Amino acid sequence: MEPFAQNLLQDKVVLITGGATGLGRAMGEKFVRLGAKLAIAGRREEVLKQTAEQFLDSGYKIFYAPCDVREPAQIAELADAVERHFGRIDILVNNAAGNFISPTERLSPRAVDAVLNIVLHGTFYATLEIGKRWIDRGQGGTMLNIVTTYASTGSAFVVPSAAAKAGVLALTRSLAVEWARYGIRQVAIAPGPFPTEGAWSRLSPTPELEQQMIDRVPLRRVGNKEELANLAAYLVSDYAGYINGEVVTIDGGEWLQGAGEFNDLRSVTEEQWDALAKLTRKGK
Ligand code: HXC
Ligand code: NAP
Repeated sequence: MEPFAQNLLQDKVVLITGGATGLGRAMGEKFVRLGAKLAIAGRREEVLKQTAEQFLDSGYKIFYAPCDVREPAQIAELADAVERHFGRIDILVNNAAGNFISPTERLSPRAVDAVLNIVLHGTFYATLEIGKRWIDRGQGGTMLNIVTTYASTGSAFVVPSAAAKAGVLALTRSLAVEWARYGIRQVAIAPGPFPTEGAWSRLSPTPELEQQMIDRVPLRRVGNKEELANLAAYLVSDYAGYINGEVVTIDGGEWLQGAGEFNDLRSVTEEQWDALAKLTRKGK
């Protein structure tokens, strides 16, 4: 079921980095169904082409161009190409990312850079390129950055990603203030676990690890891409026009589960609670 009016994003031109796969693709599908004109970018041209063909099968003609967000010159070329095709860009979704699980002491400097360069530098470069264009033309716009819940908390075993996403969150909050005077709005989404080929193959590669992940979520399930896409559609729409610099968590309560000192007591049974109550009441 569709919670929004069909013209929520009518004629808005949206550029999604990493838009051919996973969550980027799910957001793109939602946006075009709501009237947006969509451009997607990523490193692998074949994957972009395949996704564009599948959109076409569903009746949506989208624009795609290969681009490595680690290369500022390629981002400039991408922005030129999208503007040539659609005339403008209204919304930038910084979604491209790289990540994998590893003990930090096993990482080489190149491995650290592999993640930082995509997530932190790539996001910054795209933000800078598109932001400067909007400022030069006196045009406003919206930037949506996809971060993670551990951008705020940190997380073991994905430390380059945690450091990079924390940087992106700081970028979001900083520019929310600095660029508001140009009519540029910044928002972010912090997803919990959403099964995508890209994330699962690198972060949850066995059934045991996947189950561990689900067990951490109070709602006892992973996220559905449609749920994230709906949140993204609202946040980039004009109805969210007064939301600036905010990060919205969509994780079934996962990060709070780790935060509350007594949260693990959810595994205590009713009978055990009866016995515990007798003990704790003695304390009065
Ligand atoms: C240890 C690794 C490694 C791994 C790569 N390296 N993978 N080290 N464990 N699993 C090291 C390599 O040995 C090399 O160092 C260096 O990293 C660069 O490797 P390349 O393969 O040359 O890197 P590159 O081609 O740039 O690829 C980047 C990547 C790759 C990040 C490593 O996984 C990628 O392209 N990812 C894009 C998609 C993605 O990651 N999606 C998941 C997003 S999910 P040396 O020193 O040996 O040369 C997400 C949040 C999920 O972000 C949160 C879940 C809840
Ligand atoms: P994904 O499918 O692997 O998406 C990552 C995308 O980024 C791919 O399309 C990839 O395409 C692109 N990309 C990587 N490096 C790039 C580069 N240098 N230049 C341009 N594009 C590049 O994984 P996903 O799960 O959908 O992740 C999407 C976003 O959600 C990411 O920001 C991720 O951190 C975030 N997130 C996901 C989860 C989850 O559970 N899935 C949880 C929290 C946050 P190419 O390889 O073709 O370049």
